[in-house]
Amino acid sequence: MVSRVIPVEPFDLVVFGGTGDLAQRKIIPGLYRRFWAGQIPADSNIIGAARSELDDAGFQDLARAAIAEFVAKDKHDKKVIEAFLARLSYVAIDAKGKGGWDALKAKMRDGVVKAFYFSVAPSLFGDLAERLHAHKIADANSRIVVEKPFGRDLESARALNAVLAKHFDEAQIYRIDHYLGKETVQNLMAVRFANILFEPLWKSEYIDHVQITVAETVSVDGRGAYYDKSGAMRDMVQNHMMQLLCLIAMEPPYHFDPDAVRDEKLKVIRALDPVKPEDIVRGQYLAGNEQGGYVEHSEDPTSKTESYIALKVNISNWRWKGTPFYLRTGKRLRARASEIAITFREPPHSIFDDAEGWRENVLVIRLQPNEGMNLMVMIKEPGPGGMRLTQVPLDMSFAEALGEEGADIPDAYERLIMDVIRGNQTLFMRGDEVEAAWAWTDPIIQGWEKRGDKPKGYDAGSSGPEDALMLMHRDGRRWREIRE
Ligand code: BG6
Repeated sequence: MVSRVIPVEPFDLVVFGGTGDLAQRKIIPGLYRRFWAGQIPADSNIIGAARSELDDAGFQDLARAAIAEFVAKDKHDKKVIEAFLARLSYVAIDAKGKGGWDALKAKMRDGVVKAFYFSVAPSLFGDLAERLHAHKIADANSRIVVEKPFGRDLESARALNAVLAKHFDEAQIYRIDHYLGKETVQNLMAVRFANILFEPLWKSEYIDHVQITVAETVSVDGRGAYYDKSGAMRDMVQNHMMQLLCLIAMEPPYHFDPDAVRDEKLKVIRALDPVKPEDIVRGQYLAGNEQGGYVEHSEDPTSKTESYIALKVNISNWRWKGTPFYLRTGKRLRARASEIAITFREPPHSIFDDAEGWRENVLVIRLQPNEGMNLMVMIKEPGPGGMRLTQVPLDMSFAEALGEEGADIPDAYERLIMDVIRGNQTLFMRGDEVEAAWAWTDPIIQGWEKRGDKPKGYDAGSSGPEDALMLMHRDGRRWREIRE
């Protein structure tokens, strides 16, 4: 299969927070990979902006080290790396003051796409937007990119939206949820809307329930200060898992167009029922395997923050009434595995006597690792033993099916930054979408805070707290095993 790389227009991209962790781990390596692939025109400029007093060469050295560490060796090409670094420059800037803004303005060119990546604390969004405007650095065509966390509740998200809206139109604001940049997440839409096969069955009449799992093996060691204020609900559910749920549950948009897609996602979020306390299980990992437990990684030894959460979510609309969505995510679990499993209902009438051999059809979409799809179907067990049934997988690994291209899946950030330059907002969250997601999340969090609920301890390397099993058993269902 021949990869189709369509170059973007030349651009000037300013990365505020250019010396920070995200820039070094994701943004710069991602840009390099796109440059290596031939997607970035040679006359594009990347300008790092941060507080540190660095010169261009110092910033290029940082970028060189980031490429060495975070880009696969097969893409290390000395000539290409030097050509890329030559496009990098740096301005020391004071987000809250006057220093550096004239120097930045002097670097920006007319006639190219101008994009500003706010890879900084959200408390600085307003200052940056204000100064870009006051110094006439941004124009009506410029784009700004903002990262999560986009607020920590509805009120703070509204305040951030308002601060950005003072100087930028919604069409200029690109709110990143990196899950939307993952190839396999976009594949959810391709699977649903480019095949006739699934859509007729995609409703509560035929689907018993949906499980969405994002399991991680990492702990929050080193990020305790952030995580204490966030927890799994804010860190993963309000954004990433909500997006997965929307892509599974939304109606077909009339076109793969930014607002058409986002309108449909918004309708799903608005149709989510409030979650009952008995449909929520929160957990916190305990010490184990010579590693500390959550409280040792937290700044607060009495922390009640959840590192695991499972929820039963109901969607009140015609398509989904009666089909629960079970969501679970956690740190320090037994494997890193993200998947969506759609379990279909029983056929209306069985003509076979082998009731014991029968299993439900399940469509599993594996998001990471081992990206692919698996459809569990019933067949006849081979042999002369009568009509006995057995279940087999129709298993497709994207890497195998797509060859080299499938094995070399680009990082989410690569795709998303190129979309910013192309001016395509389909895979970015709109302001009203983010607010609606917080409007659903807030009462859930307020509920457990008011009740003073404590998370249940779970062993590191396990599948999460026992109570999460009950959430399913109660309904006569079972979680799928968490494994790579
Ligand atoms: C981030 C969360 O947004 O997503 C992290 O803050 C989490 O806590 C990460 O580990 C998971 O992303 P991925 O791409 O590794 O699945």
